[in-house]
Amino acid sequence: MRSWNRLNSRTDNTAHSRVGDFYESHPYPPPVDDIERYRRRWDDQRRRVDSHLFWPSESYRDDRSILVAGCGTSQAAHYAVRWPNARIVGVDLSGPSIAFERELKRKYGLDNLELHELPVERAGELGESFDHVVCTGVLHHLPDPDAGLRALRNVLAPRGALHLMVYAPYGRAGVYMLQEYCRRLRIDWSDAEIDELAASLKALPPDHPIVSLLHKSRDFETKAGVADALLHPQDRAYSVPQLMEFLDRADLVFGRWIRQAPYLPWCGAIASSPHHARLAALEPDEQYAALELFRGTMVRHSLVAYRRDFSPAVLDFSGDEWLNYVPIRLPDTLVVRDRLPRGAVAVLINRNHTFTDLYLPIDARQERLLEAIDGKRRIRDMGRAMADRDLARKFFEQLWQWDQVVFDTSKN
Ligand SMILES: C[S@@+](CC[C@H](N)C(=O)[O-])C[C@H]1O[C@@H](n2cnc3c(N)ncnc32)[C@H](O)[C@@H]1O
Repeated sequence: MRSWNRLNSRTDNTAHSRVGDFYESHPYPPPVDDIERYRRRWDDQRRRVDSHLFWPSESYRDDRSILVAGCGTSQAAHYAVRWPNARIVGVDLSGPSIAFERELKRKYGLDNLELHELPVERAGELGESFDHVVCTGVLHHLPDPDAGLRALRNVLAPRGALHLMVYAPYGRAGVYMLQEYCRRLRIDWSDAEIDELAASLKALPPDHPIVSLLHKSRDFETKAGVADALLHPQDRAYSVPQLMEFLDRADLVFGRWIRQAPYLPWCGAIASSPHHARLAALEPDEQYAALELFRGTMVRHSLVAYRRDFSPAVLDFSGDEWLNYVPIRLPDTLVVRDRLPRGAVAVLINRNHTFTDLYLPIDARQERLLEAIDGKRRIRDMGRAMADRDLARKFFEQLWQWDQVVFDTSKN
């Protein structure tokens, strides 16, 4: 395969080359040279969960073709170790980032990984379509994000799934204030300026809107992270309604959030507030939009989208179909058994949730259902644990809403 120059006349414009220059001098994320632990972490259970998160109604496959669009310094190599039987193509605008990916490819003998210095807007030049397109942290940096998303939609296979992550505006209000502050002071991208900026951030008032992010986000621990967050020449964010319009313009439809509990009125403190019923009566898109405003601190949205002409089966707990679903527990979930709320025998937590109200107390009967999950059995085959069907129906739907399980619905 040929390699492309970072820019050519067709895609060159000032904003585009500013972004290119930025990543030439500040490859992101900070390069890593050891992905062995990550490789070991990605066992079959993780792969099965991932496969059914994106394709609930298809049997498990580990050989899908994957495009990692705007792969940065290591994301494509991570995908290549995570899916050894899949073919991975990584593209990025930044030559230095692709060079770091190539070094990982060499070091780990990743024959399943192909890399190109290529803007996502020109993904069509790869001349193929992909079962899975992953684009995280990229499109909000494009001069024309619509052109980028359309290009990705056009290389998505008919039954393909897109994993997209873009910035969310309200939780990043403090970041945008500091970006404006840096522009006013004409702070540049030199190491000395970034050092001074990092030192000055320590003098911020403790209740400045960015301060909690400085403490919570690992992005601010490195120079590349500080530069990426505060000195980026091109950065926009999408509220939920803007995101839905963004997808619509590219002929894509929303599938699900990668982690959905924060967007749902059934999960967390809002479920017992006086507004719960009103929120629950809204259409899903309206619920998500309201919950983004209510939660207030979301900094990004991560979602699954499909082509408009592919509608994967929607999970349905109203008829009897759910009895044929195979629940698979998510790997990063915990069963906590101390400091329990009254009546609970355990509390279920997903370690990837950042909102602390997202813990699900369960009672003894629910615990029996939880323990009946082996990742292979359909719900209807769970024997005595299924004595109370209505309780089971509610509980399995809850486990799904709370990001505790995904379902393999291909046994229907
Ligand atoms: C914040 S990094 C994210 C990297 C990676 N996706 C991840 O999640 O770790 C953004 C990446 O997008 C790349 N990028 C920005 N504009 C691009 C474009 N038009 N085409 C391809 N890559 C682009 C940058 O070079 C950079 O590597």
